[in-house]
Amino acid sequence: MVRYSKLAFRQTVHHYGTDLCWTPMILAKEFNRNKFARDSDFTISTAGPQPPTIVQFGANVPQELARASSLVAPFASGVDLNCGCPQSWACSSTLGAALMEKRELVRDMVIETRNQLHQDGWDVAGLEKDINSPKGRSVSVKIRVHKDLRKTIDFITTLLAPSPLTSTRPIDFLTIHPRTRQTPSSTPINLDSLSILTSTFGTQVPILLSGDVFTLDSLPFTTSPTPNNTFTSSSTPSSITDPTTHHIPHLSGLMSARALLSNPALFANKNSCPWEAVELFLNKTIKAPMPFKLVLHHVSEMCSPGMGPDQRDKVALLNRHERAELMRCGDMLELIEFLEDKKPGGIGRGV
Ligand SMILES: Cc1cc2nc3c(=O)[nH]c(=O)nc-3n(C[C@H](O)[C@H](O)[C@H](O)COP(=O)(O)O)c2cc1C
Repeated sequence: MVRYSKLAFRQTVHHYGTDLCWTPMILAKEFNRNKFARDSDFTISTAGPQPPTIVQFGANVPQELARASSLVAPFASGVDLNCGCPQSWACSSTLGAALMEKRELVRDMVIETRNQLHQDGWDVAGLEKDINSPKGRSVSVKIRVHKDLRKTIDFITTLLAPSPLTSTRPIDFLTIHPRTRQTPSSTPINLDSLSILTSTFGTQVPILLSGDVFTLDSLPFTTSPTPNNTFTSSSTPSSITDPTTHHIPHLSGLMSARALLSNPALFANKNSCPWEAVELFLNKTIKAPMPFKLVLHHVSEMCSPGMGPDQRDKVALLNRHERAELMRCGDMLELIEFLEDKKPGGIGRGV
């Protein structure tokens, strides 16, 4: 998430069971040319285990994506190309969702990247053995859908055609955000489109869903267990027999943005943020700092009712009045003292 998924946050969500942590979108061109851009955009942990990290780039030139990927490959598990950002500044520069109209270019970018990583000595042949290899690196793409789903089907078909170098598909997995570039995030995701896409492509490439994953207990669909998916859905006997419940076949994983921001323990199957997650986040933030205003915003999100089905203020760690008070903290010490007062038993002793 742009602005938010910095190292301390990635470490926190990984602690609570998130398997793969994305960086915010980084502009490949700036990253390649500017050392300060590299230092500010991409921070890794030198102490303790690095959460499995996917570095997401915004790019529209194959050599730029390949070069930036080559720079981060020693420190990351994989690289991802953002074809979903709907913001006008990105689209007017043919970045993000604008790339959904440039399927050949997207294919060229991922093939160039895979070739570069191969030349650098990484295991990117797309073979089963690469998954467990310490030198294995993934190349993936995150997309939105088109209003006319046939265009999305053409887009994915183009992406999955075997690459000349390896004779395997040039992407390792695909993340689908089933909204169009114009759909507001308040409109529910398009489950019909998603189910057509996973039925068509889900056996050829692992597909992750991004959008409206609010709690693991309240997913608006059922999914068939596949050997590789480790999440549970609401596939209880009653929802399977309910004809109004969508069924999404061949789904390999779930990505969350807004809900994870307010509840980093989402993938530990917690329906709301526990105090311990706030404490852990502060602990990580002190070792991997970020601007204080950002810390404050993170903590305020975590202390809010979040995105789960129960939106009542009383399920939040802090009520509305307390959250307003929280936002008046001026520095880390004030923030820790404030939370110390609020959390039953105090906070920050481990910091
Ligand atoms: C604050 C924020 C920052 C985001 N930054 C990115 C980003 O850098 N790259 C990206 O592909 N999507 C980004 N997204 C979009 C999300 O990945 C996701 O597709 C969208 O929010 C829907 O998922 P959700 O319902 O889990 O929030 C961002 C979303 C939010 C709310």
